Amino acid sequence: MKQRILVTGGTGYIGSHTVVELQNSGYEVVIVDNLSNSRADVVDHIEQISGIRPAFEKVDCLDFEGMDAVFAKYPGIKGIIHFAASKAVGESVQKPLMYYRNNLVSLINLLELMPKHGVEGIIFSSSCTVYGQPDHLPVTEAAPIKKAESPYGNTKQINEEIIRDTVASGSPIHAILLRYFNPIGAHPTALIGELPNGVPQNLIPYLTQTAMGIREKLSVFGDDYNTPDGSCIRDYIYVVDLAKAHVIAMDRILNGKQKDKVEVFNIGTGRGLSVLELINAFEAATGVKLNYQIVGRRAGDIEQVWADPSYANNELGWKADTSIEETLRSAWKWQLHLREEGIM
Ligand code: NAD
Ligand code: WQD
Repeated sequence: MKQRILVTGGTGYIGSHTVVELQNSGYEVVIVDNLSNSRADVVDHIEQISGIRPAFEKVDCLDFEGMDAVFAKYPGIKGIIHFAASKAVGESVQKPLMYYRNNLVSLINLLELMPKHGVEGIIFSSSCTVYGQPDHLPVTEAAPIKKAESPYGNTKQINEEIIRDTVASGSPIHAILLRYFNPIGAHPTALIGELPNGVPQNLIPYLTQTAMGIREKLSVFGDDYNTPDGSCIRDYIYVVDLAKAHVIAMDRILNGKQKDKVEVFNIGTGRGLSVLELINAFEAATGVKLNYQIVGRRAGDIEQVWADPSYANNELGWKADTSIEETLRSAWKWQLHLREEGIM
């Protein structure tokens, strides 16, 4: 019998790609999403890709009774992948309480409901933002957690602690914290991808919208950093590679392969790319010329960070192996799809 998994935030960017990979691997998926940052038709697109329609419940993770009812309606849920969260760094500075409420209470509700419904494990979407500017690169999971730069980043740190404390208190659950680096790109079918709300704050959606002519110019935030070309360095990981890491992590929990009841993995490529290198790679991969200018630094930006993913590579047997060119082509194909559909 197929094992049943609850995916919160499953119509969102990373969630939708993960639902496809879970289904491809034989899991049965129940999605919960309040559609605050995604569209209901993502469920149709997941079905088009995988041939299987996931169950979908429009429920807010803040609604304890609503979530309780979801577990009752779909008995036997074995694991949860918890993506549902608010994620805009700048907005979190303006609306800290909204961020703390949404991101913390959603998780607390799940952790309270898991034992009641016999759910064994949870995978939590954490972030490389917990490392701040690491002292050593590439950064390993053993690196110290730095004071968060934003309420959003702080919710990731606090949520990691909430999970650790809950397990330490004797709760029967198991957890894996995945610290994502910078997820980019879209499914090769271009049926699902990232749907930025308003003017994008992140590099890739701004870049592809500029290439499309929706934005006039991409601003490169700073070329005076202490990096080879002066622009910031990140570890850009293909969203489908990232999605696959969740399936392997879920297998690991459900097959009792964990070394500790709470484990943490860096999910990145191990390759740092500068903003200027990324622009060059996009132009080379797509043949599309990009209009950009160098401007001043963006407040709060980390100079450089990239993952040491060797623990995930060795322990999970997982590796991000999609080239940056293929990844950027998928991002461009998604932007073209949004135009064709009249969405953007
Ligand atoms: P996303 O906004 O596309 O997806 C999140 C989904 O959760 C959305 O569909 C939204 O409608 C839903 N949601 C939000 N609050 C909810 C609630 N209270 N109840 C039910 N549904 C709710 O974001 P994403 O990029 O797919 O990110 C997924 C997770 O990964 C988030 O936890 C995010 O913080 C984390 N993360 C993202 C990145 C990134 O760069 N995209 C990096 C590191 C970590
Ligand atoms: C990447 C690089 C910018 C836009 C954020 C969150 C982080 C994580 C991922 C969830 C940086 C530069 C960007 C632009 C630019 N999310 N840039 N022009 O800042 O690494 O991380 O998203 O956990 O928490 O902080 O990602 O895509 O915004 O920026 O030059 O218009 O691109 O300076 O060097 P970031 P990003």
